[in-house]
Amino acid sequence: MVNPRLDRLPGYPFARLRALLDGVDPPAGVEPLALSIGEPRHGPPPMLAETLAANAHLWGRYPPIGGTPGFRDAVGSWLVRRYGLAEGAIDPATQILPVAGTREALFMAAALALPDGRGGATPAVLIPNPYYHVYAGSAAMTGAEAVFLPATRETGFLPDLAAVDEATLARTALFYLCSPANPQGAAAGLDYLKTAVRLARDHDFVLCVDECYAEIYGGEPPPGAVQACAALGYGNVLVFHSLSKRSSAPGLRSGFVAGDPALIEKFKRLRDVGGATVPLPVMAASEALWRDDAHVEENRALYRAKFDAAEALLAGRFGFYRPDGGFFLWLDVGDGEAAARRLWAEAGLRVLPGAYLAADDRDGHNPGAAFIRVALVHDQATTTEALERLLAVLR
Ligand SMILES: Cc1ncc(COP(=O)(O)O)c(C=O)c1O
Repeated sequence: MVNPRLDRLPGYPFARLRALLDGVDPPAGVEPLALSIGEPRHGPPPMLAETLAANAHLWGRYPPIGGTPGFRDAVGSWLVRRYGLAEGAIDPATQILPVAGTREALFMAAALALPDGRGGATPAVLIPNPYYHVYAGSAAMTGAEAVFLPATRETGFLPDLAAVDEATLARTALFYLCSPANPQGAAAGLDYLKTAVRLARDHDFVLCVDECYAEIYGGEPPPGAVQACAALGYGNVLVFHSLSKRSSAPGLRSGFVAGDPALIEKFKRLRDVGGATVPLPVMAASEALWRDDAHVEENRALYRAKFDAAEALLAGRFGFYRPDGGFFLWLDVGDGEAAARRLWAEAGLRVLPGAYLAADDRDGHNPGAAFIRVALVHDQATTTEALERLLAVLR
């Protein structure tokens, strides 16, 4: 007998892609390329391996769940730098917690936020649609109802906060907001973030702002929820950041949660029971990475050049736009599954059908169905070649 809630987990997008392409062969003589998974391939800066090696004597120690003062200080300084906060606007001792990648922390946030009931009603978890699959997974496993908020072209690819009805807000326990959004790349403005923070306070739910793509942008740096909190206070708010994209280090499994000291304290207690700790050499390497912005600027420049190439090839087609942040193209190809099959069969390209990143709405319409998500994670030459192949098939 296993937990029946497991049956309510959303389909894993990459398993669905494997099933879609099973039995379809890429063309002979063409090197297959995966543009499906958002795994940065630029490679982390050398300081990662160097710091790991220099701290190898610490592998023999159990790491503290709250991290080291050095790690928390590096993160606090980065938040102040990145978001133009006043010195001391965030207290590293009480407002920052390391996590072993944000995926598990985002998942665990539901265990933190969900009450047994909400005035007799099933607690709701608000999730943008399309969404990162972990949000719906955590709602499913905590017995909450996932309430999907359309985040389509019509809503600027972010949920329309004014459209959430009072009855839903009254039973909302948790809202996962992703900015810049995966897959659409839309970034919330500061006013939007402030509205979200006020909603969380007014209706006493936990606002989890997933800002994993905050450092990958082409134009202006996207605002962050800590800026909204600097103006309104941190109550009810948690923000999630990761080194996976910022430092091209998805294998490091290192990120942090910051925000409301009362929530951080409870999160720490929860994580003391069931959270993965960040090993001390990894914490030291992470500290070095958060203290350095130069490698991030180089990383951003690489993505910028790839978006330039994408724009040169795709502007005016498939609803192409340059996202505010992140490294995905979100292309309207009419039928995402059909396009993904053709791209694999005719060009050896794996892309993710948008439908696998979205839930059907009440009318049975899947807002991702017309789209494919294309990850610009390879080097410039490979990415350009991939986009040329894509164009040749879908033109
Ligand atoms: C929107 C979003 N949030 C969180 C994560 C998790 O990142 P990590 O666990 O590597 O920090 C990802 C990874 O792809 C993501 O796309």
